[in-house]
Amino acid sequence: MAAVWETSFTRLLGCRVPIQQAGFGSSLNVELAAAVSGAGGLGMLGGALADEAALSAACDEVERRTDGPVGVNYVEPFFDRDAHRGRLEVAAARCAVVEFFFGEPDPALVAAIHAGPALAAWQVGSVDEALRAEAAGVDLVVLQGIEAGGHVRATAGLWPLLAEALEVLAVPVVAAGGIATGRTMAAALAAGAAAVRLGTRFVASREADFHRDYQALLVAAEAGDTVYTDRFREFWPDAPHRVLRRSIVAAEAAGPVVGTMSAGPERIEVPRFAGFAPVADAEGEVEAMACFAGEGVGAIDAVRPAAEIVADLSAEAAALLGAGAAAAGRHPQS
Ligand SMILES: Cc1cc2nc3c(=O)[nH]c(=O)nc-3n(C[C@H](O)[C@H](O)[C@H](O)COP(=O)(O)O)c2cc1C
Repeated sequence: MAAVWETSFTRLLGCRVPIQQAGFGSSLNVELAAAVSGAGGLGMLGGALADEAALSAACDEVERRTDGPVGVNYVEPFFDRDAHRGRLEVAAARCAVVEFFFGEPDPALVAAIHAGPALAAWQVGSVDEALRAEAAGVDLVVLQGIEAGGHVRATAGLWPLLAEALEVLAVPVVAAGGIATGRTMAAALAAGAAAVRLGTRFVASREADFHRDYQALLVAAEAGDTVYTDRFREFWPDAPHRVLRRSIVAAEAAGPVVGTMSAGPERIEVPRFAGFAPVADAEGEVEAMACFAGEGVGAIDAVRPAAEIVADLSAEAAALLGAGAAAAGRHPQS
């Protein structure tokens, strides 16, 4: 059972622990979101490729499995404001929080989310962008550092960004990038973050909709095995990302098509250097696909149940912070 831990994030969302799972655009990841929410964190559905019906069905399924809060993540380059307005309505009506990434913070989108009514979040990569998100009316900001796996908005490290952001923002700040242990979770919370967001650690979880070979490569990797690059450009050009170096090496040696996989309702051919991570049903050269990974990857020792990850990280962080956390107004209780 995870610790009960109160921060501005847990109060806002109604979670039991200050851990958010990153939404992964390649798949709704219903099982993972439900497992994280059921364990007391904030599970996130990947909304990028899901239409209204798929999103509704995912919300039904999550509700069957847990009464914990769940959110939806949208990636701006894959979100068409006209064509996808209905998706946003469903998301804001059914989920606790709707979040955007990789686009300029937009007061109109935030207002549409609030009308839903849901909380609005924006994942940002700089203090300036965080301030623009706050000015757009978001309820919380996710601040991503360059250590992060997947697509990376930041051009600087999490810790200096976080220190600066916490001086100037009033809304709760969630720290993201390279966090995969109780120790790094404790560091972010001690600095003043309201929660931590984990991507790569949850990719290597039993419930995640990612390919087993990709998960095995994460378990085998060390912290220095990731690269910040823009090589995986197909489907999503001009968007830097952090990926396992060996994926670049494998893609360079591969032919023009490295396999097939599901992308939302479709089965697609995966061209070399496509910007989608290999989902569970991918077939072909998985290593040559975009095996996204953050710099916390070295701490991943096994593919574990998501609830165990949530419980172990929060227990370790609470033990490390101990009396300091209570003095700062947070109350870890086992
Ligand atoms: C496989 C993968 C896919 C991702 N897809 C998305 C996405 O669709 N939307 C999003 O906001 N962030 C996405 N991210 C980035 C995360 O939101 C988060 O910033 C990052 O995972 C944090 O760093 P970490 O991986 O070191 O924990 C993705 C990350 C990974 C590893």
